[in-house]
Amino acid sequence: MSKEFDVVVIGAGPGGYIAAIRAAQLGFKVACIDEWTNAKGGPAPGGTCTNVGCIPSKALLQSSEHFDQALHHFADHGISAKSVTMDVGQMLARKDAVVQQNNDGILYLFKKNKISFFHGRGALDVSQGGLHTVQVSGAQAETLLAKQVIIATGSSARALPGTPFDEVQVLSNDGALRIGAVPKKLALIGSGVIGLEMGSVWRRLGADVTILEGLPTFLGAVDQQIAKEAKKAFDKQGLKIELGVKVGEIKSGKKGVSIAYTNAKGEAQTLDADKLIVSIGRVPNTTGLNAQAVGLALDERGAIVVDAECKTNVPGIWAVGDVVRGPMLAHKAEEEGVAVAERIAGQHGHVNFNTIPWVIYTSPEIAWVGRTEQQLQADGVAYKAGTFPFLANGRARALGDTTGMVKFLADAASDEILGVHIVGPLASELISEAVVAMEFKASAEDIARICHAHPSLSEATKEAALAVDKRTLNF
Ligand code: FAD
Ligand code: NAI
Repeated sequence: MSKEFDVVVIGAGPGGYIAAIRAAQLGFKVACIDEWTNAKGGPAPGGTCTNVGCIPSKALLQSSEHFDQALHHFADHGISAKSVTMDVGQMLARKDAVVQQNNDGILYLFKKNKISFFHGRGALDVSQGGLHTVQVSGAQAETLLAKQVIIATGSSARALPGTPFDEVQVLSNDGALRIGAVPKKLALIGSGVIGLEMGSVWRRLGADVTILEGLPTFLGAVDQQIAKEAKKAFDKQGLKIELGVKVGEIKSGKKGVSIAYTNAKGEAQTLDADKLIVSIGRVPNTTGLNAQAVGLALDERGAIVVDAECKTNVPGIWAVGDVVRGPMLAHKAEEEGVAVAERIAGQHGHVNFNTIPWVIYTSPEIAWVGRTEQQLQADGVAYKAGTFPFLANGRARALGDTTGMVKFLADAASDEILGVHIVGPLASELISEAVVAMEFKASAEDIARICHAHPSLSEATKEAALAVDKRTLNF
């Protein structure tokens, strides 16, 4: 026997579960399949984001930030905290509890929206009676039929060739989030988003952290003025980042890991560490999906080929999130999920790729939206730039965190905001104002004329907008 639905979603990460909810809101009969299993063997919807990504990493970043504050900054406020210690087991247990709250929240949302959830693996099969077929394997084995299928199977960590993850010594993001004791020496390969976030967590807890990065430029995709400011802060914290390296043989044994590499000067080096985190990007999850059964086109990376509307080459099959082109971000996956559900309903869902914000949750945080100064130069766009340092912001001084700046880039002729780049406290929250402004095609002057609460970090945003016209008030 098979079960028939209007929409079947494969994967319950941010792309999949949000697509399922939006489709249900639009009146469709929806099923969602996900294979993630928790330690007790139960379902753990939420995907990479909830289980081994956004949520647990932010939980550990928060715990380690508290520890760092207690150790190094409480005294500035007159607070003496003698013998501050970190119970790593408790930190991990709290992180696991936060993850579980999110898993449970999604199961509740499925119920609330009358979505049929199947815990198991979904694979495409030849269509039956004009309907797409998805076979569910696992405890809830079932054949599902639907007119519309949304694939949201996400991505997995990319391993270095010849060095598979054992999650004991050589760790992916998964193992990196459950190291049971602070390693004395921690090595990371790749100083991208995961490298910097995870490196920060364990550095704050006392590990001697070295990150090896293949590219000669630090955070090449980030506005270079912002990246340089961030690098200065990381150097000061003792986070060692070696750029322009070529990683060679990696030996892993009971005692730890040994990484042979050539540094930027061409000298042969060896880095010995207790653990190695490999954070060199992610690969789309399409193995086991049986894409060939329906002739679904994949690109050379294994990603599902989609058009601007997330349509695959097979009518009625859509794909969203990390498994398709574009930035691998939870909020991008969610927006695509909503847009696809709306398109299935005949509406005009839309994702504006020009206004997708990026955030790196280090300290200082790094956040941006739109184009960098380097991109504008490469594109031959005439622009004006304005910056404002948090050093001159009263709230930042009161917080005791004056690192960094807000930077505005605006069109030289029209003053339209083309990019906003922030390094500093709570950049993750401040960037939203810039996203809204760019969505509404605001000019820098629009932001400069808006009343911002005092004292607040957002005043630095207003001042940076004023700086575009060379008329900051507080600097
Ligand atoms: P996923 O979240 O990967 O979900 C896919 C789901 O599909 C999984 O549950 C998987 O089990 C399931 N699945 C796969 N194949 C099948 C199948 N055949 N049958 C059934 N189920 C299947 N992004 C941010 O925006 N902000 C952050 O702060 C952030 N932090 C991150 C930190 C880390 C350490 C990592 C690794 C990633 C982080 N990301 C962050 C990226 C973010 O997690 C992803 O972009 C996001 O999870 C993608 O969502 P998705 O729905 O496309 O896929
Ligand atoms: P990444 O793409 O951010 O960074 C990978 C880094 O590894 C790059 O700097 C790259 O040059 C380097 N690299 C690649 N191969 C190498 C090699 N052989 N030797 C040395 N260096 C090498 O990928 P990362 O950090 O693995 O994260 C994957 C994705 O997950 C991110 O791109 C992002 O989309 C998402 N993510 C988002 C977060 C956020 O939004 N805050 C947090 C963490 C992850």
